[in-house]
Amino acid sequence: MGDIKVYSEEVLQQAANTLKQGHLVAFPTETVYGLGADAQNLTAVKKIYLVKGRPESNPLIVHISSDIFLEDWARNIPIFARKLAKEFWPGPITLVFDRTNIAKDFVTGNQESVALRVPSHPIALKILEKFESLGTSGIAAPSANRYGFLSPTNSDSVSNFLGEYLSPLDLIIDGGPSSEGIESTIVSCLTDIPIIMRPGPITKSMIEKVSSRKAEVALNQKLRVPGQDMKHYAPKANLFLSGIPSMGDGLLALDEISTPHGVIRIGSPKSSYEFAKILYRSLDKADLLKIKNVYVIPPEGDEISIAIRDRLNRAAKKQG
Ligand code: TXA
Ligand code: MG
Repeated sequence: MGDIKVYSEEVLQQAANTLKQGHLVAFPTETVYGLGADAQNLTAVKKIYLVKGRPESNPLIVHISSDIFLEDWARNIPIFARKLAKEFWPGPITLVFDRTNIAKDFVTGNQESVALRVPSHPIALKILEKFESLGTSGIAAPSANRYGFLSPTNSDSVSNFLGEYLSPLDLIIDGGPSSEGIESTIVSCLTDIPIIMRPGPITKSMIEKVSSRKAEVALNQKLRVPGQDMKHYAPKANLFLSGIPSMGDGLLALDEISTPHGVIRIGSPKSSYEFAKILYRSLDKADLLKIKNVYVIPPEGDEISIAIRDRLNRAAKKQG
């Protein structure tokens, strides 16, 4: 269930109303598609966890349309974080702050902090604005996938991944393929330096330049981030990051790498940026083709490659 709706002003108003009424709306962002619920509505947020099959201790990102709503949700905002918000929002970076009392345990996974993001996708922004016009703020939205599996970067993938778990009043809004293709960078702003908790499209050097602070990378040191110790972002196929593919296996690699005889090429991006953009959708394609083994040769040598490698290492992990 969860009909796919294409863009119109009416549809976006319907999306905002649907959220306000406590139902779920999957919507496009520039990173991946999100599964949205009213972040202040306990019953609605619980549905996200049910539909995703995600443990309730894993906190959600709260989306807002602009930093005007920052103080609704966050306290003790350091100056470097204001600089990051000013430069990169709307955009693919999530900032973690001390929470205010509207950020309840059910959205923060009982943590005293809250994760906030202003997405740049025009449809996401319009839904947020229309939702806020109803006199509220905050759409909680994790990636619109089942827990542990691939994130969707188009509305058909959302429907394939979650259709059977959504109810008839929930919606999926189509907005074409996501332009970034991997999830936002997550930066903790709880101390006086930026701490990168999940690498992503906004890189460490971009963060350091704008914040005038040396950034630390601490993947899951103090705070819980799903996928740090478990298989995550995974396709159904067995994923290999080394070795040589055989007849009938899938291969995703940069365009300059040739395809061995009998191997099914599932993607040939020309740059690391394009690699990130098509990563999940290529793996999803391999699953739809029922390819059993997929070999991925990740790009190297630049910062976006670090984020790609982060996702692939977790996706290739044995379950557990
Ligand atoms: O690009 C994105 O960030 C997408 C789109 C839809 O915005 N969303 C996304 O959400 O990737 P999700 O739930 O799949 O990943 C959110 C991450 C999780 O790893 C979660 O643990 C972390 O954000 N997170 C949320 N609140 C946090 C907090 N208070 N402290 C630390 N990590 C937090
Ligand atoms: Mg996710």
